[in-house]
Amino acid sequence: MKNIAIFASGNGSNALRLIEHFRNHAAIKVSCVITNNPNAGVIQKAKDNKIPYYLFTKQQFNDSETLPSLLKELKTDFIVLAGFLLLVHTSIIHEYNDKIINIHPSLLPKYGGKGMYGDNVHKAVLAAGEKETGVTVHLVNEEFDKGEILGKEVIQIDKNETLETLKVKIHEAEHRLLPKIVEKTILN
Ligand code: GRF
Repeated sequence: MKNIAIFASGNGSNALRLIEHFRNHAAIKVSCVITNNPNAGVIQKAKDNKIPYYLFTKQQFNDSETLPSLLKELKTDFIVLAGFLLLVHTSIIHEYNDKIINIHPSLLPKYGGKGMYGDNVHKAVLAAGEKETGVTVHLVNEEFDKGEILGKEVIQIDKNETLETLKVKIHEAEHRLLPKIVEKTILN
């Protein structure tokens, strides 16, 4: 059995999709949810689904022991960043080389990098008058949003698209793409 630790800072709709997708999976299990945000919706979703969750401060995320030892204790094989807003410590990036998967709400390399998270991404896409955008699932390395791309889904932008309508479409695409690519990557 391969164990996934999900890191999430927000609502956790992607985390929930992963939890549901792997609930009765023969080879992959979501073993925990780890968050930095005491108000994150993902905490309730973990509780509802009886997935152990851990809340750490930013400081704890920044030290090189707390998290690595927990991940080891939980026999973590893969980490999925599902809306996780802090940087992952380099010790974890090295330990989990090619085993950290992230989702980004644009077609990388476009609209990636520093400051490109959440609504900033969609606002920049709309301001640029793009005809399409999408979702990218990729491996994490030490540079923002620059690891190997594992999968993409393209979304057409309508003439009267707004931030709100685009966010809904992006989330729907994320929910379709992330579980599929995570499963494929782990079983590969
Ligand atoms: C997603 O749009 C993801 O791409 C971004 O953060 C958002 C998280 O949404 N990095 P949720 O918490 O999974 O609902």
